[in-house]
Amino acid sequence: MAALTKTEFPDLKLIARGKVRDLYDVDENSLLFVATDRISAFDVIMENGIPNKGKILTEISGFWFELLKDVVPNHLITTNVDEMPEPIRKYKAQLQHRSMLVKKLKILPVEAIVRGYITGSGWKEYKKQGTVCDIKLPVGLRECEKLPEPLFTPSTKAEIGDHDENIHPSKLVDIIGEKYSNLVAETALKVYSKARDYALSKGIIIADTKFEFGVDSEGNLVLADEVLTPDSSRFWPADLYTVGQNQPSFDKQYLRDYLESINFDKKTSVTLPVHVIDNTMAKYVEVYTILTGKAPQF
Ligand SMILES: Nc1ncnc2c1ncn2[C@@H]1O[C@H](COP(=O)(O)OP(=O)(O)O)[C@@H](O)[C@H]1O
Ligand SMILES: [Mg+2]
Repeated sequence: MAALTKTEFPDLKLIARGKVRDLYDVDENSLLFVATDRISAFDVIMENGIPNKGKILTEISGFWFELLKDVVPNHLITTNVDEMPEPIRKYKAQLQHRSMLVKKLKILPVEAIVRGYITGSGWKEYKKQGTVCDIKLPVGLRECEKLPEPLFTPSTKAEIGDHDENIHPSKLVDIIGEKYSNLVAETALKVYSKARDYALSKGIIIADTKFEFGVDSEGNLVLADEVLTPDSSRFWPADLYTVGQNQPSFDKQYLRDYLESINFDKKTSVTLPVHVIDNTMAKYVEVYTILTGKAPQF
């Protein structure tokens, strides 16, 4: 099966291609948000895609939007292509399971990261200076240890080809203003907490995750983008969790480990071998099945 790494719909107006998604304009209020099978790591898009990955991501996000809709409004209008406007419906074969009609929002230019456990770049910073995002943490934390409280650790949203930069939460005010910086922090923590409890009841630890928020025409804060997918989160199997070491995971870690093993320069795209494609997809499908309690519907 071939991976869909780029979409082209002559009757729709392409607005942007992100690392994973292609965005099309629909009308004044809505956008078509299409998850391709592209995969990125260290902010570099790999040469080949992972067949059906975009479908898994879309279905996982859709699942969470439904579960979390009482905590915060979200941008999803529908994932059902039959309910989308006419010019979209004729591309149903390609769009089915991998697209969302979403509310057009003003996206706040920050990544709302929440960390429940100390790992990744957070662990690196902590080892060096005892902080994460310049927030002082208790001494003596071990790798992947659960934090006393989930931490909101925002970063800037980099332009294509650039890397995001961690910032202290107090710096958020300068970027998005006081009203939204408090609200984003509060809402991200609330959303994380509810998702964390749900996932843990299914045997999955959400170690950390990244949200994006937008503002609608009335000024309401709306949860946007993808949510709580293996592209945007670290998912660990709870039964294998051992503090003081790196954890096995259901996310991009297999790919990251492979890239480290070939001394990837974090700049030049590479072609992934079959075992990386197959293993990454297997992990994504596994986490989908555990979280939703059903096998993928495609
Ligand atoms: N409701 C929305 N309205 C406008 N833009 C959105 C909305 N939801 C998400 N986006 C933007 O769409 C893009 C998603 O594509 P993606 O491939 O994930 O990009 P990135 O490379 O930035 O991760 C992101 O730039 C995100 O900020
Ligand atoms: Mg993204």
